[in-house]
Amino acid sequence: AAPVVNGPEKIVQNVCAACHGADGNSVITTNPKLAGQHPEYLLKQLNNFKEGTRANAIMSGMAGALSQEDMEGLAKYFSNQSIKLAKAKSNGKGSLGEKIYRGGIAATQVPACAACHGATGAGLPKQFPRLAGQHTDYTVQQLRTFRTGERANAPMMMAIAAKMTDAEMQAVADYIQGL
Ligand code: HEM
Ligand code: HEM
Repeated sequence: AAPVVNGPEKIVQNVCAACHGADGNSVITTNPKLAGQHPEYLLKQLNNFKEGTRANAIMSGMAGALSQEDMEGLAKYFSNQSIKLAKAKSNGKGSLGEKIYRGGIAATQVPACAACHGATGAGLPKQFPRLAGQHTDYTVQQLRTFRTGERANAPMMMAIAAKMTDAEMQAVADYIQGL
């Protein structure tokens, strides 16, 4: 008989894998990679989707159906997976994206991303998420929803995104994918 799979693995197989990949490395570029992300951050997002401070039609429904115990197990499961890194799209050394990531934007007082997300993009404990290797499209989408306020779960990021142009968001997101 096939082995009985229970707990978070079962939910991953039946639900999350379709959009995020069984190992947390999503293929669709508007769905985030969850692999290697801090468990505390993942748990916070699931609760925020459930409460509605992070508005997303798909994930709010998903999180609404999960218990606190499920969420904790899922956060732990995905954080234990290894992220698969992609090649940089167009940016590297000396690019606008690198300048924003490491130095911010002086003219509009945007702080350096590295201050909170780390020099390597691996994030800082515990609530500062890993950004390195994330899909460009997803990162741009998050910066836009911080700017519009659909994602209202991080005042600091909302203030930062409010000061960024579309071109700056695209440049830093390209750089982050290749970090
Ligand atoms: C975002 C977990 C199922 C589509 C997220 C995030 C988490 C998560 C933690 C936020 C990641 C971050 O902030 O970096 C899960 C879990 C699932 C699940 C544990 C299974 C119980 C699904 C399914 C779909 C989906 C089935 C597609 C039908 C998305 C999308 C986003 C997202 C589109 C980005 C939302 C946004 O733009 O704010 N998910 N997910 N997820 N998930 Fe899921
Ligand atoms: C979350 C980008 C600067 C603190 C995020 C996310 C992105 C992002 C894309 C969402 C990650 C995901 O959904 O998986 C950036 C960029 C920055 C920047 C491009 C520079 C222009 C900063 C700075 C701080 C900060 C300077 C601290 C002062 C945070 C925190 C979160 C976050 C705490 C988690 C929000 C939550 O709990 O939902 N950032 N960030 N970021 N960022 Fe930044």
